[in-house]
Amino acid sequence: MSTLPNHLQETVTLNNEVHMPWLGLGVYLAKEGDEVVQAVKAAIRAGYRSIDTASAYRNEEGVGQGVREALKENGLRREDLFITSKVWNSDQGYETTLKSFDDSLKRLGLDYLDLFLVHWPVKGKYKDTWRALEKVYAEGKVRAIGVSNFQIHHLEDLLSEAKIVPAVNQVEFHPYLTQKDLLRYCLEKGIQLEAWSPLGQGNLLEHEILQGIAAKYGKTVAQVILRWDLQLGVVTIPKSVREARIIENADVFDFELSAEDIQAIDELNRNQRFGSDPDKNIPK
Ligand SMILES: NC(=O)c1ccc[n+]([C@@H]2O[C@H](COP(=O)([O-])OP(=O)(O)OC[C@H]3O[C@@H](n4cnc5c(N)ncnc54)[C@H](OP(=O)(O)O)[C@@H]3O)[C@@H](O)[C@H]2O)c1
Repeated sequence: MSTLPNHLQETVTLNNEVHMPWLGLGVYLAKEGDEVVQAVKAAIRAGYRSIDTASAYRNEEGVGQGVREALKENGLRREDLFITSKVWNSDQGYETTLKSFDDSLKRLGLDYLDLFLVHWPVKGKYKDTWRALEKVYAEGKVRAIGVSNFQIHHLEDLLSEAKIVPAVNQVEFHPYLTQKDLLRYCLEKGIQLEAWSPLGQGNLLEHEILQGIAAKYGKTVAQVILRWDLQLGVVTIPKSVREARIIENADVFDFELSAEDIQAIDELNRNQRFGSDPDKNIPK
């Protein structure tokens, strides 16, 4: 399939023509300070161009520092990178989101973001939050806006009033939670699906069937899962703070899973979440 991404810096074109890398580094639980700085630098050195943070991760300052140092060390420009952050649940609402956006920019030390997301669909708030994202987008402070943890009914509700269709929906997505209906819906609406916890927070790496598939291709289970994301057309952002794993997770562009193996992975679905359920327990 010639349309599949075949190198780490390959991008998908979002619904507003902005290019987003297919694979990026997630930094949830990467500690503020040296740990996150070094992870960001290792990733960019390895060829990553996309970093996914959030105000809730409390590591935006370190991400900003890692980005600045990596730009210098690798002779890159800001526009070579794709930086995502998110407005946290307790900051949702129109004015509070505008402030949260500015605070994220300040902590990151950036003058624009590539993508800003509504972190969770907080009931009664997310439409006002979305209007604030539409405003910062119109002002040119962010190149694309999107949502996270939105189910189909949240998207339907948002789209009934939104001026701008979200460019991205970042959701929990891995072989135990394959989200087929949501994936199809987002594809129809031109919303790019992005996988969080693609490795099931590390819980899927010992799975026997996945290990069998990985052995066949001479790859690791992590690489097989990330490749499965890409072949399904899903952007993916594995997290690691270890350089060897950061490199391993990006080495997924030199093989192709067969249709049978894609199906075998799809069949592992159990609708099982490792994170919160957007309809039941949105984090505070
Ligand atoms: N929007 C949301 O609500 C939301 C929620 C959760 C996550 N996210 C985003 O998605 C990103 C990824 O999700 P995640 O961090 O929850 O989980 P993940 O990427 O599925 O898994 C990360 C875990 O797996 C380990 N790991 C990574 N690569 C490995 C490898 N090759 N071999 C063995 N172990 C490996 C990591 O440990 P080490 O670091 O020690 O290597 C870490 O414990 C987050 O960092 C964040 O950016 C978004």
